[in-house]
Amino acid sequence: MAIVNDICIVEHDEKLASEVADFFIRSAGEARDRPFRVALSGGSTPSKLYRLLAGDRANRVKWPHVQFYFGDERCMPPDHAESNFKLANDTLFRPLGIDVAQVFRIEGEAGQPDLAARRYEETIRQQFGIPFPAWPRFDLIFLGLGDDGHTASLFPGSPALGEKVRAVVVSESPRGVTHRITFTAPLINHARSIVFMVAGLHKAPAVRAVLEDDTVNATHYPAKLIRPIEGHLIWYLDRAAASALT
Ligand code: 6PG
Repeated sequence: MAIVNDICIVEHDEKLASEVADFFIRSAGEARDRPFRVALSGGSTPSKLYRLLAGDRANRVKWPHVQFYFGDERCMPPDHAESNFKLANDTLFRPLGIDVAQVFRIEGEAGQPDLAARRYEETIRQQFGIPFPAWPRFDLIFLGLGDDGHTASLFPGSPALGEKVRAVVVSESPRGVTHRITFTAPLINHARSIVFMVAGLHKAPAVRAVLEDDTVNATHYPAKLIRPIEGHLIWYLDRAAASALT
């Protein structure tokens, strides 16, 4: 199947969260007789999305069918302000009363990131029933975009960019919390749907570089690695983040 690059540009970040929430609801509704497996992105952009899904649209999803994973995590306790799990737990899981058995957290705080990465990959493989070397196929993977072109915790120049065998590896961030655990590009690219959600003028140069600039490569802009193999890739952008696109 050809790569399908849909770009949805909306006026502002409130409308962005609303459009993405509706996409989530539609996608979850399609997984009728099996778990709907979604990997959440980190950072701050998803917070409006989580509040919408846990708010007035909560009754539009059969939540017991949803399994929550994380596309990346900072190696710190789950109650730390920088934890990607904490944001989702505070604004989505707790308000919705999501059963802990439906949430698969990356346990990177124990001081052995590579072991945590291997364990997380094993958890995914066991839940999906997909042994190595086949690739587990998420229903939906959410991604953010850093202003340096990173996505998940795939940072420019990182050895993780070239990973072709493992689904989950350790990574190092050049800024902020350094030790990370991240999905690799092959795992992301095997998803049925991949959704970038990007807001803000400061992201516009990276959005243009990733979507339009063929003179820069994925080493410098890792989000260029995201090319679904048999899936759907959609970029949801607010007008500010899209403002440098031609
Ligand atoms: C992380 C994220 C990362 C994030 C982007 C955008 O753990 O930091 O997974 O890839 O999505 O950096 O972050 P903001 O949404 O905060 O701009």
